[in-house]
Amino acid sequence: MSNTEQTLSIIKPDAVERNLDNEIKQMFIKNGFNIFKEKKIQIEKSEAEKFYKVHETKPFYNDLCSYLSSGPIIAMILEKENAVAENRKLMGATNPKDAEEGTIRKKYGISIDKNSVHGSDSIENAKIEIDFFFKD
Ligand code: CMP
Repeated sequence: MSNTEQTLSIIKPDAVERNLDNEIKQMFIKNGFNIFKEKKIQIEKSEAEKFYKVHETKPFYNDLCSYLSSGPIIAMILEKENAVAENRKLMGATNPKDAEEGTIRKKYGISIDKNSVHGSDSIENAKIEIDFFFKD
C-alpha cells in the first residue's frame, strides 16, 4: 500500500544567501522527493517565534528566531513515501559536525544554527508547519 506523506522543508537563510537552493532542491529530487509547492519569502521575527514555539523555553530560542527571520528562506512541501522520516535522514543530524556523509547538513551546514535546512520532526508537526506556510 502506498504511504505517500507530505513534510515541510525550509531552506534556511545561510543556504539561500550562498545560492545553494537549487543544489539542495536537486538533492531532494534525486532522493525521490516531489516538491509539491514552494515559496521564497522573508518572515518577521514574530512569525518565526510562532513557527518555533515548541522551542520557546530553550536558551537558543531568541537567536533561532532572529536568524530564521534574518533573510529570505524557501519553504517547500515535499512528498514521498514516509516523507517525514526520509527527509530527516537526508538532512542529517541537527549539528552538521555530527551529520553523516551524504546528508544535506554535512555537505552545506556551517554550524548548529546555520544548518541550512529545517524539516518537520513528526507527521503531526508536518501538518501544522505546512499550514503555517501554505494555508492561504
Ligand atoms: P531546526 O531543525 O530548524 O530546529 C530548531 C533549530 O534550533 C535547529 O534546527 C538548530 O538550527 C537550532 N539550534 C540551535 N541550538 C540548538 C541546540 N542546542 N539544540 C538543537 N537545536 C538547536
